[in-house]
Amino acid sequence: MCGIVAYIGNREATPILLEGLKRLEYRGYDSAGLAVVNGGLKVCRAVGRVSVLEERVEGDGGFTGTLGLAHTRWATHGSVTEANAHPHHDERNGIALVHNGIIENYAALKTYLQERGHVFKSETDTEVLTRLIGELYDGDLESAVQAALREVTGAYAIAVICEREPDSLVVARKGSPLIVGIGSDEYIIASDPSAIVAHAAQALTLEDYNVVKVTREGFRSSTLDNIPLTPKVQQLELDLEQIELGSYSHYMQKEIFEQPNALRNTLRGRLDRAEGRVVLGGVSAFAKEIVKARRFILTAQGTALHSAMIGEYLLEDLAKVPTECEYASEFRYRNPIIEDGTVVVAVSQSGETADTLSALHEAHERGALALGVVNVVGSTIARETDAGIYLRVGPEIGVASTKAFTGQVAVLTLLAMFVARRRFMSPDDCADLIRELEAIPGKIETILAGAERIREVTEKHIERENWLFLGRGYNYPVAMEGALKLKEISYIHAEGMPAAEMKHGPIALINDGMPAVFLANRGRQYDKVMSNISEVKSRGGHIIAVATEGDQNIRSLADDVLYVPECPECLSPMLTVVPLQLMAYYAAVARGHDVDKPRNLAKSVTVE
Ligand code: AGP
Ligand code: GLU
Repeated sequence: MCGIVAYIGNREATPILLEGLKRLEYRGYDSAGLAVVNGGLKVCRAVGRVSVLEERVEGDGGFTGTLGLAHTRWATHGSVTEANAHPHHDERNGIALVHNGIIENYAALKTYLQERGHVFKSETDTEVLTRLIGELYDGDLESAVQAALREVTGAYAIAVICEREPDSLVVARKGSPLIVGIGSDEYIIASDPSAIVAHAAQALTLEDYNVVKVTREGFRSSTLDNIPLTPKVQQLELDLEQIELGSYSHYMQKEIFEQPNALRNTLRGRLDRAEGRVVLGGVSAFAKEIVKARRFILTAQGTALHSAMIGEYLLEDLAKVPTECEYASEFRYRNPIIEDGTVVVAVSQSGETADTLSALHEAHERGALALGVVNVVGSTIARETDAGIYLRVGPEIGVASTKAFTGQVAVLTLLAMFVARRRFMSPDDCADLIRELEAIPGKIETILAGAERIREVTEKHIERENWLFLGRGYNYPVAMEGALKLKEISYIHAEGMPAAEMKHGPIALINDGMPAVFLANRGRQYDKVMSNISEVKSRGGHIIAVATEGDQNIRSLADDVLYVPECPECLSPMLTVVPLQLMAYYAAVARGHDVDKPRNLAKSVTVE
């Protein structure tokens, strides 16, 4: 989902801007551009990869200067063209602007500006904001930005420069993330820390409606009405090693294989086996409200929704609390009923997903206690919940979410155990489950050791354009997640559903050799899954079964069996998902796709 990098200091801006854009590529984009101030304003934009922009800029040789900004665009208004790429600029005053988000009232503003003689060169909402700032500019960029932002509705993170003010860089945000990295006599602004950590150890995170004017000597934060603010400066917890690829071919591969250690970090300090209890410092201030909850609502999108679906099973199964899982985009508009004693849990890797954030606001306004299950420290959702539990799986760069999924499932397991233990689960039962949970990372290592076999099975079917993923109980959401993984990086169409549901229509899809992936590990509904496998097999489907080590019965039905170690059914999603992640990865590689930057996709969808 697009990205912003901006720089003001005493070094050449262009190399820093280009390096920053490359570190933000994982967020997903379709075009890129940059602008520098060096006496005048110099702008370059290009459709496609950052490398295309880099070639043009370096070929020109004129992009010198110590003040600049850059952008990767994920189009919302206007097709993917060079004219629609950012930076947009207002030639009257030499103002250049980059923007993440949507200006919702851009049409009315565009008419207003056209009546004042502005001739638009793009189809974007961003150009409207740029020209509005130009229209309001009277020699002070900061106040022109404040005045313009008072007129707009929508979501934005922006960086703005002006050729008449070579010592100023103005940034602002509402709804889209932006942070200011604090270097020595220099400042690097970006959408997330990965573009900053190479240059700064501290940063300030803009809050909604913040405007920050940055000079080489310092920065000034204010509201849209120019009321001074004291921003909070935080230590950047990321380090370069965490965001480097290392010996892996792709970030997604690295993050799949990181899962054992990532989960060890998630669990560390949160399992007290001796006392048979779970320790969640991040929610302890609200422990009573959480334990007495009359209902949980889990809300998320995409992969996070699938982990939330597993959270629904966990909270009802272990903690016996009525729980429902809701698409955030639906929840926020359907006038939800929030009674006393409702706890809403927003699940999000990035902590910036617009729909999830809005659902959280909706629940909060209706009186719910709002918790976050988030990976990115200091992200908007993390800051706007009453309390939360960080995943601690480290930065997830690959667009296709993997270690964040297993991290979310682990955290939701901890939450369910936290509540269950304070309601009726005995210390011994909790200690037994803790022991099983502590063994999960090692069991994932066992599965990863068999990755080559998973690749071989996958590659037999990569020409097939339609796959089915089927599971029951805790593994029904895993089937959904397996289908999403395959779709989003291999572009093969796949559907995930409850295994029983297949008979109510989708079975019509089964044709000779169609891959049908069953989550057939041992569990309460194992025999029912066997029946479903028979139904698909008798119609020519090719059965790929994820089964429990030692299960020989499955071999009589499945064409390929991928084994996972034994574990309690409620913990099995953290194991059964791993072969599916690897299948998606190997299918995408075999089909020659860009695994970490799949077409049309964004790592964090910060627009509705
Ligand atoms: C997952 O592989 C996708 N990239 C996408 O569905 C993602 O899970 C979804 O956009 C939610 O993102 P979040 O966890 O950052 O809120
Ligand atoms: N709405 C703007 C556009 O379509 C910004 C999109 C983005 O966030 O990259 O150009």
